[in-house]
Amino acid sequence: MNFLSRNETDTIGIANDFAASLQAGDVVALSGELGVGKSVFCRALMRSLGVQDEALPSPTFAIIQEYDGAICKLAHMDWYRLEDADEIEMLGVRDYFQPPWICLIEWAERADRLLSDRVIHVEIRCVEHDLDARAINIMGSTSRP
Ligand SMILES: Nc1ncnc2c1ncn2[C@@H]1O[C@H](COP(=O)(O)OP(=O)(O)OP(=O)(O)O)[C@@H](O)[C@H]1O
Ligand SMILES: [Mg+2]
Repeated sequence: MNFLSRNETDTIGIANDFAASLQAGDVVALSGELGVGKSVFCRALMRSLGVQDEALPSPTFAIIQEYDGAICKLAHMDWYRLEDADEIEMLGVRDYFQPPWICLIEWAERADRLLSDRVIHVEIRCVEHDLDARAINIMGSTSRP
């Protein structure tokens, strides 16, 4: 599904709608250039799933952060600083690819081979001539029946 976000508020709305389709066991891989809005999308999604504002991270955060949502647990990862798939695998990231977790991964392209076919891809791209516009493409389906 393709969306056009005109600003940060639009992106938050798109993330909120998408959050409603998720359930435990889902893995969401976010890709897009530095500063494009992956963390904005993730924070909105986590808030929407019941993570308290106080718990949400500052812009720089650990490689894996764990949160309690209303009906699931959430893991938010950023693989940007990691070297390769082996290093990422050793952190035990696969433990989060199953219930009770919903797993959100920024820079998942660092280690594509760790992801299963069932992963949901969220691609965010800048749109020419408009500083705040983003094209958001969501591919793959959730495990919700
Ligand atoms: N349409 C938009 N959607 C999301 N963020 C936007 C939009 N327009 C402008 N912004 C701004 O872009 C920035 C996105 O920052 P964010 O940290 O979410 O990027 P990121 O993709 O997570 O970067 P990184 O690769 O460093 O993790 C924010 O400062 C936000 O205010
Ligand atoms: Mg980020």
